[in-house]
Amino acid sequence: MSIRFDGQVAIVTGAGNGLGRSHAIALAARGAKVVVNDLGGARDGAGSSSAAAKSVVEEIKAAGGEAIAHGANVANYSDVEDMVQQALNAWGRVDILINNAGILRDKSFTKMSIDDFKLVMDVHLMGSVNCTKAVWDLMKEQQYGRIVMTTSSSGLYGNFGQTNYGAAKMAVVGLMNTLGLEGAKYNVRINALAPTAATRMTEDIMPEEILAMLVPEAVTAGALILCHEGAPSRHILCAGGGGYASSKIFETEGVYLEPAQQTPEAVAAHWDEICNTDKQSPLDNGAKQSEKFLLKAQAFLAQDKA
Ligand code: NAI
Repeated sequence: MSIRFDGQVAIVTGAGNGLGRSHAIALAARGAKVVVNDLGGARDGAGSSSAAAKSVVEEIKAAGGEAIAHGANVANYSDVEDMVQQALNAWGRVDILINNAGILRDKSFTKMSIDDFKLVMDVHLMGSVNCTKAVWDLMKEQQYGRIVMTTSSSGLYGNFGQTNYGAAKMAVVGLMNTLGLEGAKYNVRINALAPTAATRMTEDIMPEEILAMLVPEAVTAGALILCHEGAPSRHILCAGGGGYASSKIFETEGVYLEPAQQTPEAVAAHWDEICNTDKQSPLDNGAKQSEKFLLKAQAFLAQDKA
C-alpha cells in the first residue's frame, strides 16, 4: 500500500527545523499541500525569524511540491487563526494538523522560574490547543480531519530537569484522549507521537555516533501513519532510530474493599494486590473506571442483602 496525501492540505507547526521540517517535506513529497509554520526563534523560544520556514518552502517547491510559509506563534491564537485563514485562502480546506512546534527551558524544579514553566506550557500545550481549536469546526463540517499531538517520553515517563516540558507533553495526551472521543463521529482522528531524533533539541545531549542513527525521517514514517486516511485514533506512537512502539495507559484490576474495610490501613494491606499487573487492561474512557468500581460495590451490596 502506498501512503499518499494527494489533494489534502496539511499544517505542520514548527516545520522550519528538525522533525517538523521532515514531516512537511514528506507530506509534500506524497502529494499534500503544506503550510510550513515556524516562529523561527531559538531553542529556548527567544526571538523570531521567517528564514527557516521560507527555506523549507523553497526546498519543497524545488522538489515539485506545493507549500506556503507562515510565521505564526502557535501560543498566540490570533496568529494561528490567521495561519488557518491563509491555508483556506490558498487551498480551501485543512485535512491534517501536526502540532509539532516546541521549545525547551530545562532546569530542576527548584531552580525553575514560574515564567519558564508557563512559557513551555504555552508553546506545547496552548500551542496545540490553539491550532486544534482553529481547525476543529472546519474538520467536523467536512467530516474529515487528522490531528497529531507531539508528546515525549519525558511526559509519558518523566525526565530529570523537565517538569515544565513533561507536564506539557503529558497534557497533550489528555487533550488527545478527549478530543478523540469528541471527534469520532465526524471522522476526526487524533493521535500522539513520542519521537526520538537528532535535532537541535537533542544535539548536545547525545554523542555523535548515536545522533547519526536518529534521523528525523525515521520518526516521520510513523507520523505519516498517524495522519493518513487509515489512521487509528487515540494512539500514542513512540518512534526513533527505526524503533516503533505503542505506549498505552493501563489500569490494574485492583481490589474492592467492602465499606468496613475502606480505611488507609486496609488500602496499605492490599497494596501488592492493587498494583498487581496480571489482569491490567486499558480503559476506553473515564466513565469506564467509575463503572468498574461501582459494579464491584453493587455486587457486594447485592450479596450482602441476599
Ligand atoms: P526543533 O527545535 O528542531 O524544532 C522545533 C521548531 O518549533 C523550531 O523550528 C522552532 O522555531 C519552532 N517553534 C518553537 N516555538 C514556536 C512557536 N511558539 N510557534 C511556532 N513555531 C515554534 O526541535 P525538534 O526536535 O524537531 O522538536 C519537534 C517536536 O518534537 C517538539 O514538540 C519537541 O518537543 C518534540 N520532541 C522531540 C524529541 C527529539 O528527540 N528531537 C523528543 C521528544 C519530543
